[in-house]
Amino acid sequence: MKLNVRICKILVVDNHICGWGDPVKKFKEIDINEINENVFKLIGKDWMLVTAEKEGQVNAMTASWGGLGVIWSRNVAYVVIRPQRYTKEFIDGSDTLSLSFYDEAYRNKLNYLGSVSGRDEDKLAKAGLTRVDCDGVPYFDEAKLVLICRKLYAQEYKPECFIDKSLDGKYYPDKDYHTMYIVEIVKALIEK
Ligand SMILES: Cc1cc2nc3c(=O)[nH]c(=O)nc-3n(C[C@H](O)[C@H](O)[C@H](O)COP(=O)(O)O)c2cc1C
Repeated sequence: MKLNVRICKILVVDNHICGWGDPVKKFKEIDINEINENVFKLIGKDWMLVTAEKEGQVNAMTASWGGLGVIWSRNVAYVVIRPQRYTKEFIDGSDTLSLSFYDEAYRNKLNYLGSVSGRDEDKLAKAGLTRVDCDGVPYFDEAKLVLICRKLYAQEYKPECFIDKSLDGKYYPDKDYHTMYIVEIVKALIEK
């Protein structure tokens, strides 16, 4: 019988144990109210990686559409994912995901992860990001801010629900409607 022994390096994030990978940085958990970022810039201009794990495999993609806010008295994020994204399979196959944010120095990597599919190549290995986990949720050690999230709600956009019908014609000529995921932010981590 072949024993598959995986050695887990432990990263201590304050009192929270996170594992896997070979973390260089240390993160600390912060109260969500301490996040002092302009969300329009953070998501719309600087972009984020959406990362999820399914059956032991991880995939990530760049996203610049989404938001942060409060729904059902929870601190939430929302992201919108087109059906053809490989990452969608991972998001759908997991209860959790992470949103991670990077300095400008990582722009090229985010561009790459947003233009190549994990279906076609081992893009995480090629991007050279260091995978680490928090409470079993994967993210990357190079991030400056990480939101560990739990899925609350998912719904595919429907053509009949567009009030401004021009959006349907402009963004969905192929009828590849995004699914919107509303996720609860359960932890926010920043680099120390
Ligand atoms: C700046 C930027 C923002 C993007 N934002 C989104 C987004 O919000 N939703 C989406 O479905 N795809 C978005 N994409 C496209 C995906 O990141 C891209 O198709 C990626 O290659 C999917 O990878 P995957 O197939 O491995 O999941 C964006 C791409 C870039 C470069």
